[in-house]
Amino acid sequence: MENRELAILLSGRGSNFVAIYEAIRRGDLDAKICCVISNVADAAGLTRANEFGLTALSIPSRGIERTEYDRMLVTALRSFDPALVCLAGFMRILSPEFLKEYPGRVLNIHPALLPSFPGLHAQKQALEYGVKISGCTVHLADEGVDTGPILLQRAVEVLEGDTEETLSARILEQEHQIYWRAIALMLAKVNSRVNGRPAR
Ligand code: GRF
Repeated sequence: MENRELAILLSGRGSNFVAIYEAIRRGDLDAKICCVISNVADAAGLTRANEFGLTALSIPSRGIERTEYDRMLVTALRSFDPALVCLAGFMRILSPEFLKEYPGRVLNIHPALLPSFPGLHAQKQALEYGVKISGCTVHLADEGVDTGPILLQRAVEVLEGDTEETLSARILEQEHQIYWRAIALMLAKVNSRVNGRPAR
């Protein structure tokens, strides 16, 4: 049996989560969102998940040590058995223990053409550096900040007079285009058969 279940982790607005949800609803992405988990109780993305009737969990991270928090996440996720864990504006670095639980199955999206401009405020970093092309990247998460094998990227031209807001908005449009496509690629991969058994 194929596993096409997605766990979404987010900390804020959740527009990437909504774009994934919409791609599934349109029938462009053959997947199911098994849960949406936020480390921020009042994240707008969590409210949207509730509105959509999805399983939405708040697991606040404030004041909890990283390994301990990630253990709580793993415990919560185990009951859903997701094929992929999709970080969608999840503002935390994951511990090696968490990544070991889902080897090669944790995806992240970043608003720059990695390896350029990792970390916070990627669009501002790009503007300040003066690049003429930036964009967005979906990659597998590893223990670094926005490192890990690249799955898909889209380029976005930096225009004369761009502000952080205008550039971010155009990059975000492309983020919404590539995340579900990268998920489709990875679902095909994790469900491909090795020696007659599903590769998990
Ligand atoms: C996006 O720009 C994403 O690339 C970055 O955090 C932002 C999340 O936005 N990792 P949203 O919550 O999906 O709207």
